[in-house]
Amino acid sequence: MKSVTPPLDASYWQQRYATGRDGWDAGAPTPPLRAYFDQIRTIAQPRILIPGAGRAYEAEYLHRAGFEQVFVADFAPEALGALAARVPDFPAGHLLQADFFGLSNEPPYDLIVEQTFFCALAPALRPAYAQQCARLLRPGGTLVGLLFDAPFAGATEPPFGGTPAEYRAYFAPYFAFRYFETATNSLGPRQGRELFICLKKN
Ligand SMILES: C[S@@+](CC[C@H](N)C(=O)[O-])C[C@H]1O[C@@H](n2cnc3c(N)ncnc32)[C@H](O)[C@@H]1O
Repeated sequence: MKSVTPPLDASYWQQRYATGRDGWDAGAPTPPLRAYFDQIRTIAQPRILIPGAGRAYEAEYLHRAGFEQVFVADFAPEALGALAARVPDFPAGHLLQADFFGLSNEPPYDLIVEQTFFCALAPALRPAYAQQCARLLRPGGTLVGLLFDAPFAGATEPPFGGTPAEYRAYFAPYFAFRYFETATNSLGPRQGRELFICLKKN
């Protein structure tokens, strides 16, 4: 893989939103995550974090479904502003304009939702991503979401791809693998090219 050219900071991402280079934006929660959300059954309100949330359609969906403890984190203001504009009653205190790697784990989360955030990070940060997800979750908490199962060879800007074997190595120190397979209900262009993962923190 070639080295990453631009610094992937908040202004880089803000610029991508401003110039419409946002091909990751599905305009709705993706079918695998929607199916996962629809089967969540808990009595207590789970504390849910969506990092690198972008326009955060998952947060909107969960909020409208009655989940009250949904937090979104993104360091690009465009992303959080879009959710606030679409869903005015989404709690302002749950919009975290912050770097994922600096988020607090007090109190810890029950569930973290991954959707095209891992692939947006410089690949060198992948071990730190797995470690930070583990730090943010309570023991037994869940990391659920989608990871590209495609190499995207030669990419110098996100999305960055990878392989299941590579990803397993990052998560194995902290998580039990409940599900780690090719998603069966991906969006059209992503079919056969993404893993659905459901990992339980040790
Ligand atoms: C490819 S977009 C995905 C957005 C959203 N998850 C989606 O699927 O539409 C990646 C997002 O991660 C955010 N991001 C990248 N690095 C971040 C970091 N270290 N902390 C917080 N947000 C970050 C970017 O601002 C951008 O909104």
